[in-house]
Amino acid sequence: MSTSTSPAVQRTFDVEEIRAQFPILKELVHGKPLVYFDNAATSQKPRRAIKAESTYYATINANVHRGVHTLSTKATEAQEAARETVRAHINAQHAHEIIFTCGTTASINLAATSLGQLLLKKGDEVVISGMEHHSNIVPWQLACERHGAVLKVIPITDSGEWDMSAIPARGRNDILTDKTRILAISHVSNTLGTINPAKKLIAQAKKKGIITVVDGAQAAPHLKIDVQDLGCDLYAFSGHKAYGPTGTGVLYGREELLERMPPWQGGGEMIDTVTLEKSTWAKLPFKFEAGTPHIAGIIGLGEAIRWMQDYDLDAMAAHERTLLEHATKELLAIDGLRIIGTAKEKVGVISFVIDGVHHYDLGTLLDQQGIAVRTGHHCTQPLMDRFGVSGTTRASFACFNTIAEVDAMVAGVKKGVKMLR
Ligand code: ALA
Repeated sequence: MSTSTSPAVQRTFDVEEIRAQFPILKELVHGKPLVYFDNAATSQKPRRAIKAESTYYATINANVHRGVHTLSTKATEAQEAARETVRAHINAQHAHEIIFTCGTTASINLAATSLGQLLLKKGDEVVISGMEHHSNIVPWQLACERHGAVLKVIPITDSGEWDMSAIPARGRNDILTDKTRILAISHVSNTLGTINPAKKLIAQAKKKGIITVVDGAQAAPHLKIDVQDLGCDLYAFSGHKAYGPTGTGVLYGREELLERMPPWQGGGEMIDTVTLEKSTWAKLPFKFEAGTPHIAGIIGLGEAIRWMQDYDLDAMAAHERTLLEHATKELLAIDGLRIIGTAKEKVGVISFVIDGVHHYDLGTLLDQQGIAVRTGHHCTQPLMDRFGVSGTTRASFACFNTIAEVDAMVAGVKKGVKMLR
């Protein structure tokens, strides 16, 4: 994917310089230095993003788009500057194509509810893949139930990739059919780390007039996103996984489609006129932003993205790839350890199971050594079923992690195996 923005000066990637900007990395956990490998659940935050939020509260706290007074104008300007930052970051054409939500889950629920109402009728089909997060399964199940549509699923290969042979571009294709109205797929798997060939599949879907929705929650922190190059209709991601505050998310939508989509929540700010009989809707993006937004969070998200843009994102990605390669090699040397998700193209996410060791016990022992990993099904129960496991231990890396931390985790896993087997 091509770069969306090029800041004038990009700082050289120096992991120690980056680490110094994350206050939490100085914390001790059980008396040990924190090793934070749960970035796929939520990333840590650089000081700049934290400060932007508190500065809003301390200096310009007011509601947006509502007052003529100075603070309201300043708050509105700061929020809209964040919208422009997001637009440039993902290379959307217009700032009004950026809708702020409280996270990827809300973005996909918006998409499923509104698109369901716009597009789905009895017998229509919605297609997802077998590696989706529950957030990109359940909203579509609900939409299908509501409109009598059928949910179809792209199968997953043993390496944890979409089985493209099940969705050939030419010839018989039982998954993308004449009845398919919506394709909803993840850009990157939260459990496996697989980078999916989203652009290729979107092009295939577009030829059939299918609307495409991308769950970019795990891509936004690691890849350069270019929604125009990707060709998708809607793209959802969270701020809190991309170094921004919790309670922030984005739904990008192509202008023409957003214009046609009905609102999903009613309330203040999303209307043009209201009578007791009928209401009309505000222009984009406000039609989809009912109520007071998380202003402080949105401003923090804008600052987090500006912080990321100060660096060469390719260098960040290369660093995370090095961590992944090192962790993969070292973990595979452990007897009885199996990595779930061995795709060629991965971000820094590594899920594994070990014979005779329960992931929950291992996660607890690692925590005692100050090492934070996630254990369980990672909100991907169908994927766990596909691989015949009840859960995994997952380490997910960010730009501030180091090789020494990976070594500490590997040593911790070895110790855990000795104790638990
Ligand atoms: N979706 C987040 C994860 O994968 C919570 O951990």
